[in-house]
Amino acid sequence: MSDEPLVLGLETSCDETGVGIVRGGTLLADAVASSVEQHARFGGVVPEVASRAHLEAMIPTLRRACADAGVTLNDLDAIAVTSGPGLSGALMVGVAAAKALALALGKPLYGVNHLAAHVAVDILEHGPLPEPAIAMLVSGGHSSLLFVPDVSYDVQPLGRTIDDAAGEAFDKIARLLGLGFPGGPLIDKAAREGDPGAMRFPRGLTGSHDMRDHRYDFSFSGLKTAVARWVEQREANGESVPVNDVSASFQEAVVDVLTRKAVLACKENGVGHLLIGGGVAANSRLRVMAEERCAAEGIVLRVPRPKLCTDNGAMVAALGARMVQTGRTPSDLTLPADSSMPVTLVQA
Ligand code: KG4
Ligand code: ZN
Repeated sequence: MSDEPLVLGLETSCDETGVGIVRGGTLLADAVASSVEQHARFGGVVPEVASRAHLEAMIPTLRRACADAGVTLNDLDAIAVTSGPGLSGALMVGVAAAKALALALGKPLYGVNHLAAHVAVDILEHGPLPEPAIAMLVSGGHSSLLFVPDVSYDVQPLGRTIDDAAGEAFDKIARLLGLGFPGGPLIDKAAREGDPGAMRFPRGLTGSHDMRDHRYDFSFSGLKTAVARWVEQREANGESVPVNDVSASFQEAVVDVLTRKAVLACKENGVGHLLIGGGVAANSRLRVMAEERCAAEGIVLRVPRPKLCTDNGAMVAALGARMVQTGRTPSDLTLPADSSMPVTLVQA
Protein backbone atom coordinates (compact mmCIF):
# COMPACT_ATOMS: atom_id res chain seq x y z
CA MET A 1 0.00 0.00 0.00
CA SER A 2 1.11 3.52 -0.78
CA ASP A 3 1.34 6.22 1.92
CA GLU A 4 -0.01 8.75 -0.52
CA PRO A 5 -3.57 9.92 0.10
CA LEU A 6 -6.39 8.58 -2.07
CA VAL A 7 -8.53 11.62 -2.81
CA LEU A 8 -11.82 12.10 -4.64
CA GLY A 9 -12.44 15.44 -6.35
CA LEU A 10 -15.82 16.83 -7.45
CA GLU A 11 -16.15 19.71 -9.93
CA THR A 12 -19.49 21.31 -10.85
CA SER A 13 -18.72 25.03 -11.21
CA CYS A 14 -19.86 25.37 -14.81
CA ASP A 15 -21.13 22.86 -17.39
CA GLU A 16 -18.87 19.88 -16.66
CA THR A 17 -19.69 17.33 -13.96
CA GLY A 18 -16.21 16.10 -13.10
CA VAL A 19 -15.28 13.29 -10.73
CA GLY A 20 -11.58 12.58 -10.38
CA ILE A 21 -9.59 10.23 -8.20
CA VAL A 22 -5.89 10.61 -7.48
CA ARG A 23 -3.37 8.89 -5.26
CA GLY A 24 -1.06 11.74 -4.23
CA GLY A 25 0.23 13.13 -7.52
CA THR A 26 -0.92 10.17 -9.60
CA LEU A 27 -4.09 10.30 -11.68
CA LEU A 28 -6.30 7.20 -11.29
CA ALA A 29 -9.61 8.35 -12.79
CA ASP A 30 -10.95 11.42 -14.59
CA ALA A 31 -14.66 10.93 -15.37
CA VAL A 32 -16.42 13.91 -16.94
CA ALA A 33 -20.02 14.34 -18.09
CA SER A 34 -20.59 17.56 -20.03
CA SER A 35 -23.86 19.39 -20.62
CA VAL A 36 -22.25 21.55 -23.30
CA GLU A 37 -24.57 20.25 -26.04
CA GLN A 38 -27.64 21.29 -24.05
CA HIS A 39 -26.33 24.88 -24.05
CA ALA A 40 -25.21 25.02 -27.68
CA ARG A 41 -28.47 26.38 -29.08
CA PHE A 42 -28.37 29.24 -26.55
CA GLY A 43 -24.79 30.18 -27.52
CA GLY A 44 -23.65 30.07 -23.88
CA VAL A 45 -24.06 28.15 -20.63
CA VAL A 46 -27.57 28.40 -19.11
CA PRO A 47 -27.17 28.13 -15.31
CA GLU A 48 -30.46 26.32 -14.58
CA VAL A 49 -29.81 23.77 -17.31
CA ALA A 50 -26.28 23.19 -15.98
CA SER A 51 -27.50 22.63 -12.40
CA ARG A 52 -30.07 20.07 -13.45
CA ALA A 53 -27.53 18.27 -15.62
CA HIS A 54 -25.11 18.08 -12.66
CA LEU A 55 -27.83 16.50 -10.50
CA GLU A 56 -28.53 13.87 -13.14
CA ALA A 57 -24.88 13.15 -13.90
CA MET A 58 -23.39 13.13 -10.39
CA ILE A 59 -24.07 9.54 -9.29
CA PRO A 60 -23.33 7.85 -12.66
CA THR A 61 -20.10 9.86 -13.03
CA LEU A 62 -19.05 9.00 -9.47
CA ARG A 63 -19.66 5.29 -10.15
CA ARG A 64 -17.67 5.50 -13.38
CA ALA A 65 -14.71 7.17 -11.65
CA CYS A 66 -14.60 4.53 -8.90
CA ALA A 67 -14.76 1.74 -11.50
CA ASP A 68 -12.01 3.36 -13.62
CA ALA A 69 -9.75 3.77 -10.58
CA GLY A 70 -10.58 0.31 -9.23
CA VAL A 71 -11.44 1.69 -5.78
CA THR A 72 -14.53 1.87 -3.57
CA LEU A 73 -15.70 4.95 -1.70
CA ASN A 74 -14.58 3.36 1.57
CA ASP A 75 -10.98 3.31 0.33
CA LEU A 76 -10.87 7.11 0.11
CA ASP A 77 -8.78 9.20 2.50
CA ALA A 78 -10.43 12.54 1.71
CA ILE A 79 -13.06 14.28 -0.41
CA ALA A 80 -12.35 17.56 -2.23
CA VAL A 81 -14.88 19.75 -4.00
CA THR A 82 -14.89 23.03 -5.92
CA SER A 83 -16.60 25.50 -3.60
CA GLY A 84 -16.13 28.49 -5.95
CA PRO A 85 -15.94 30.56 -8.01
CA GLY A 86 -18.57 29.56 -10.56
CA LEU A 87 -22.31 29.35 -11.14
CA SER A 88 -24.03 29.35 -7.78
CA GLY A 89 -26.65 26.65 -8.41
CA ALA A 90 -24.14 24.45 -10.22
CA LEU A 91 -21.60 24.73 -7.38
CA MET A 92 -24.27 23.80 -4.85
CA VAL A 93 -24.81 20.41 -6.47
CA GLY A 94 -21.15 19.45 -6.08
CA VAL A 95 -20.84 20.91 -2.59
CA ALA A 96 -23.97 19.08 -1.40
CA ALA A 97 -22.75 15.80 -2.88
CA ALA A 98 -19.32 16.20 -1.29
CA LYS A 99 -20.79 16.99 2.12
CA ALA A 100 -23.07 13.96 1.91
CA LEU A 101 -20.12 11.70 1.01
CA ALA A 102 -17.87 13.14 3.71
CA LEU A 103 -20.56 12.76 6.33
CA ALA A 104 -21.67 9.26 5.32
CA LEU A 105 -18.11 7.94 4.93
CA GLY A 106 -16.63 9.84 7.89
CA LYS A 107 -13.87 11.33 5.71
CA PRO A 108 -12.30 14.84 5.81
CA LEU A 109 -13.70 17.39 3.38
CA TYR A 110 -11.71 20.08 1.53
CA GLY A 111 -13.61 22.88 -0.21
CA VAL A 112 -11.18 24.25 -2.80
CA ASN A 113 -10.83 27.18 -5.18
CA HIS A 114 -11.48 26.30 -8.82
CA LEU A 115 -8.63 28.50 -10.08
CA ALA A 116 -6.03 27.00 -7.75
CA ALA A 117 -7.27 23.57 -8.88
CA HIS A 118 -6.56 24.52 -12.53
CA VAL A 119 -2.97 25.16 -11.41
CA ALA A 120 -2.64 22.05 -9.22
CA VAL A 121 -3.74 19.70 -12.01
CA ASP A 122 -0.33 19.99 -13.62
CA ILE A 123 1.13 18.00 -10.71
CA LEU A 124 -0.62 14.99 -12.29
CA GLU A 125 1.01 15.70 -15.65
CA HIS A 126 4.49 17.04 -14.91
CA GLY A 127 5.14 16.25 -11.22
CA PRO A 128 5.58 18.60 -8.23
CA LEU A 129 5.02 22.28 -8.98
CA PRO A 130 8.01 24.59 -9.04
CA GLU A 131 7.57 27.13 -6.24
CA PRO A 132 7.01 29.87 -6.96
CA ALA A 133 5.46 29.59 -10.41
CA ILE A 134 3.55 32.02 -12.60
CA ALA A 135 0.23 30.60 -13.78
CA MET A 136 -1.95 31.93 -16.56
CA LEU A 137 -5.51 30.63 -16.47
CA VAL A 138 -7.56 31.23 -19.59
CA SER A 139 -11.02 29.76 -19.98
CA GLY A 140 -14.63 30.66 -20.74
CA GLY A 141 -15.09 32.08 -17.25
CA HIS A 142 -11.70 33.41 -16.26
CA SER A 143 -8.48 34.97 -17.54
CA SER A 144 -5.92 35.61 -14.88
CA LEU A 145 -2.23 35.81 -14.22
CA LEU A 146 -1.23 34.43 -10.83
CA PHE A 147 1.90 34.35 -8.72
CA VAL A 148 1.85 31.00 -6.94
CA PRO A 149 4.29 30.48 -4.03
CA ASP A 150 2.34 27.38 -2.82
CA VAL A 151 -0.78 26.17 -4.58
CA SER A 152 -2.19 24.60 -1.41
CA TYR A 153 -2.50 27.90 0.43
CA ASP A 154 -0.80 30.90 -1.18
CA VAL A 155 -2.01 32.16 -4.55
CA GLN A 156 -1.61 35.86 -5.41
CA PRO A 157 -3.31 37.66 -8.30
CA LEU A 158 -1.13 39.72 -10.63
CA GLY A 159 -3.79 40.57 -13.20
CA ARG A 160 -7.08 39.56 -14.75
CA THR A 161 -9.44 40.45 -17.53
CA ILE A 162 -11.25 43.73 -17.06
CA ASP A 163 -14.11 42.64 -19.35
CA ASP A 164 -14.53 39.36 -21.29
CA ALA A 165 -12.65 36.17 -20.47
CA ALA A 166 -10.38 34.92 -23.27
CA GLY A 167 -12.59 31.89 -23.99
CA GLU A 168 -15.67 34.09 -23.95
CA ALA A 169 -14.07 36.22 -26.68
CA PHE A 170 -13.45 33.07 -28.75
CA ASP A 171 -17.07 32.02 -28.21
CA LYS A 172 -18.46 35.44 -29.20
CA ILE A 173 -16.35 35.75 -32.35
CA ALA A 174 -17.25 32.19 -33.37
CA ARG A 175 -20.93 33.12 -33.04
CA LEU A 176 -20.37 36.26 -35.11
CA LEU A 177 -18.73 34.15 -37.82
CA GLY A 178 -21.51 31.54 -37.64
CA LEU A 179 -19.13 28.78 -36.54
CA GLY A 180 -21.07 27.42 -33.53
CA PHE A 181 -20.47 26.84 -29.80
CA PRO A 182 -18.15 26.41 -27.98
CA GLY A 183 -16.19 28.65 -30.30
CA GLY A 184 -12.58 28.09 -29.23
CA PRO A 185 -11.95 24.76 -30.95
CA LEU A 186 -13.84 25.92 -34.08
CA ILE A 187 -11.81 29.15 -34.41
CA ASP A 188 -8.63 27.16 -33.74
CA LYS A 189 -9.54 24.82 -36.62
CA ALA A 190 -10.59 27.59 -39.05
CA ALA A 191 -7.45 29.57 -38.20
CA ARG A 192 -5.24 26.73 -39.41
CA GLU A 193 -6.44 27.47 -42.96
CA GLY A 194 -6.16 31.26 -42.55
CA ASP A 195 -3.51 33.97 -42.57
CA PRO A 196 -2.82 35.37 -39.06
CA GLY A 197 -1.40 38.53 -40.64
CA ALA A 198 -4.38 39.19 -42.93
CA MET A 199 -5.76 41.91 -40.63
CA ARG A 200 -4.05 43.65 -37.75
CA PHE A 201 -6.61 43.60 -34.94
CA PRO A 202 -5.99 45.60 -31.71
CA ARG A 203 -3.97 44.17 -28.79
CA GLY A 204 -5.90 45.25 -25.69
CA LEU A 205 -4.12 46.95 -22.76
CA THR A 206 -0.67 46.95 -24.37
CA GLY A 207 -0.22 50.68 -24.99
CA SER A 208 2.28 52.53 -22.79
CA HIS A 209 -0.44 54.11 -20.65
CA ASP A 210 -2.20 50.77 -20.09
CA MET A 211 1.09 49.02 -19.38
CA ARG A 212 1.42 51.38 -16.43
CA ASP A 213 -2.11 50.99 -14.98
CA HIS A 214 -3.01 47.50 -16.25
CA ARG A 215 0.37 45.86 -16.72
CA TYR A 216 -0.84 42.29 -16.16
CA ASP A 217 -4.53 42.80 -16.94
CA PHE A 218 -6.31 41.73 -20.12
CA SER A 219 -9.14 43.22 -22.15
CA PHE A 220 -10.83 41.56 -25.10
CA SER A 221 -13.93 43.69 -25.64
CA GLY A 222 -12.16 46.22 -27.88
CA LEU A 223 -10.83 43.39 -30.03
CA LYS A 224 -14.30 41.86 -30.22
CA THR A 225 -15.78 45.17 -31.36
CA ALA A 226 -13.01 45.68 -33.92
CA VAL A 227 -13.64 42.24 -35.44
CA ALA A 228 -17.42 42.84 -35.48
CA ARG A 229 -16.97 46.22 -37.21
CA TRP A 230 -14.65 44.70 -39.80
CA VAL A 231 -17.13 41.92 -40.58
CA GLU A 232 -20.10 44.33 -40.73
CA GLN A 233 -18.20 46.59 -43.12
CA ARG A 234 -17.47 43.67 -45.39
CA GLU A 235 -21.09 42.56 -45.38
CA ALA A 236 -22.34 46.12 -45.95
CA ASN A 237 -20.20 46.23 -49.10
CA GLY A 238 -21.77 42.98 -50.25
CA GLU A 239 -18.46 41.15 -49.96
CA SER A 240 -18.01 37.67 -48.52
CA VAL A 241 -16.30 37.30 -45.12
CA PRO A 242 -13.00 35.38 -45.20
CA VAL A 243 -13.79 33.32 -42.10
CA ASN A 244 -10.43 31.55 -41.94
CA ASP A 245 -8.42 34.77 -42.19
CA VAL A 246 -10.61 36.57 -39.62
CA SER A 247 -10.30 33.57 -37.26
CA ALA A 248 -6.52 33.42 -37.65
CA SER A 249 -6.05 37.19 -37.23
CA PHE A 250 -8.36 37.34 -34.19
CA GLN A 251 -6.65 34.34 -32.59
CA GLU A 252 -3.25 35.88 -33.25
CA ALA A 253 -4.27 39.08 -31.41
CA VAL A 254 -5.51 37.13 -28.36
CA VAL A 255 -2.54 34.79 -28.20
CA ASP A 256 -0.02 37.59 -28.74
CA VAL A 257 -1.29 39.55 -25.72
CA LEU A 258 -1.66 36.48 -23.48
CA THR A 259 1.85 35.18 -24.11
CA ARG A 260 3.47 38.62 -24.04
CA LYS A 261 2.03 39.44 -20.60
CA ALA A 262 2.65 35.97 -19.16
CA VAL A 263 6.32 36.03 -20.16
CA LEU A 264 6.66 39.58 -18.83
CA ALA A 265 5.18 38.45 -15.48
CA CYS A 266 7.79 35.68 -15.26
CA LYS A 267 10.67 38.02 -16.09
CA GLU A 268 9.60 40.83 -13.76
CA ASN A 269 8.99 38.46 -10.85
CA GLY A 270 12.17 36.47 -11.40
CA VAL A 271 10.21 33.24 -11.94
CA GLY A 272 11.56 30.57 -14.27
CA HIS A 273 8.39 28.50 -14.73
CA LEU A 274 5.15 29.37 -16.52
CA LEU A 275 2.10 27.16 -16.24
CA ILE A 276 -0.89 27.62 -18.54
CA GLY A 277 -4.31 26.12 -17.76
CA GLY A 278 -8.02 26.48 -18.53
CA GLY A 279 -9.90 25.54 -21.69
CA VAL A 280 -8.12 28.08 -23.92
CA ALA A 281 -4.79 26.38 -23.08
CA ALA A 282 -5.94 23.76 -25.59
CA ASN A 283 -5.45 26.36 -28.34
CA SER A 284 -2.80 25.15 -30.76
CA ARG A 285 -1.47 28.63 -31.62
CA LEU A 286 -1.25 29.57 -27.92
CA ARG A 287 0.82 26.47 -27.25
CA VAL A 288 3.24 27.20 -30.10
CA MET A 289 3.68 30.90 -29.35
CA ALA A 290 4.06 30.31 -25.60
CA GLU A 291 6.69 27.66 -26.30
CA GLU A 292 8.63 30.02 -28.60
CA ARG A 293 8.51 33.03 -26.31
CA CYS A 294 9.36 31.02 -23.17
CA ALA A 295 12.28 29.35 -24.94
CA ALA A 296 13.61 32.76 -26.01
CA GLU A 297 13.63 33.90 -22.36
CA GLY A 298 14.86 30.65 -20.78
CA ILE A 299 11.49 30.02 -19.10
CA VAL A 300 10.24 26.46 -18.62
CA LEU A 301 6.67 26.12 -19.92
CA ARG A 302 4.23 23.60 -18.43
CA VAL A 303 0.88 22.99 -20.12
CA PRO A 304 -1.17 19.93 -19.15
CA ARG A 305 -2.80 17.82 -21.85
CA PRO A 306 -6.06 19.38 -23.16
CA LYS A 307 -8.38 17.07 -21.18
CA LEU A 308 -6.77 18.24 -17.94
CA CYS A 309 -6.88 21.91 -19.04
CA THR A 310 -10.67 22.01 -19.35
CA ASP A 311 -12.83 21.66 -16.24
CA ASN A 312 -12.55 18.23 -14.59
CA GLY A 313 -12.64 16.55 -11.18
CA ALA A 314 -9.02 15.35 -11.27
CA MET A 315 -7.79 18.91 -10.80
CA VAL A 316 -9.87 19.24 -7.64
CA ALA A 317 -8.60 15.88 -6.38
CA ALA A 318 -5.00 16.94 -7.17
CA LEU A 319 -5.37 20.10 -5.07
CA GLY A 320 -7.15 18.16 -2.31
CA ALA A 321 -4.29 15.64 -2.20
CA ARG A 322 -1.78 18.48 -1.98
CA MET A 323 -3.72 19.92 0.97
CA VAL A 324 -3.69 16.56 2.75
CA GLN A 325 0.03 16.22 2.11
CA THR A 326 0.85 19.72 3.40
CA GLY A 327 -1.25 19.15 6.52
CA ARG A 328 -3.99 21.72 5.85
CA THR A 329 -6.93 21.57 8.25
CA PRO A 330 -10.04 20.14 6.53
CA SER A 331 -12.94 22.48 5.76
CA ASP A 332 -15.98 22.60 7.98
CA LEU A 333 -19.08 20.67 6.91
CA THR A 334 -20.89 24.02 6.79
CA LEU A 335 -18.67 25.19 3.92
CA PRO A 336 -20.55 27.35 1.41
CA ALA A 337 -20.79 27.32 -2.37
CA ASP A 338 -19.23 30.73 -3.03
CA SER A 339 -19.91 31.93 -6.57
CA SER A 340 -17.47 34.84 -6.25
CA MET A 341 -14.77 33.13 -4.16
CA PRO A 342 -11.64 35.31 -4.41
CA VAL A 343 -8.59 33.70 -5.96
CA THR A 344 -6.57 34.41 -2.81
CA LEU A 345 -8.87 32.10 -0.84
CA VAL A 346 -7.45 28.71 -1.85
CA GLN A 347 -9.59 26.76 0.62
CA ALA A 348 -13.11 27.48 1.88
O1 KG4 B 1 -11.94 25.60 -18.74
P1 KG4 B 1 -13.17 25.45 -19.58
O2 KG4 B 1 -13.53 24.08 -20.05
O3 KG4 B 1 -14.44 25.98 -18.84
C1 KG4 B 1 -14.50 27.17 -18.15
O4 KG4 B 1 -14.19 27.20 -16.93
O5 KG4 B 1 -14.86 28.17 -18.82
O6 KG4 B 1 -13.00 26.44 -20.84
C2 KG4 B 1 -13.95 26.52 -21.87
C3 KG4 B 1 -13.51 27.62 -22.82
C4 KG4 B 1 -14.55 27.94 -23.90
O7 KG4 B 1 -14.71 29.33 -23.98
C5 KG4 B 1 -13.92 27.38 -25.18
O8 KG4 B 1 -14.29 28.11 -26.33
C6 KG4 B 1 -12.43 27.55 -24.88
O9 KG4 B 1 -12.31 27.22 -23.51
N1 KG4 B 1 -11.61 26.65 -25.70
C7 KG4 B 1 -10.72 27.09 -26.61
C8 KG4 B 1 -10.18 25.94 -27.23
N2 KG4 B 1 -10.76 24.83 -26.66
C9 KG4 B 1 -11.62 25.29 -25.71
N3 KG4 B 1 -10.35 28.34 -26.95
C10 KG4 B 1 -9.43 28.46 -27.93
N4 KG4 B 1 -8.88 27.41 -28.59
C11 KG4 B 1 -9.21 26.14 -28.28
N5 KG4 B 1 -8.67 25.12 -28.94
ZN1 ZN C 1 -12.30 26.34 -15.25
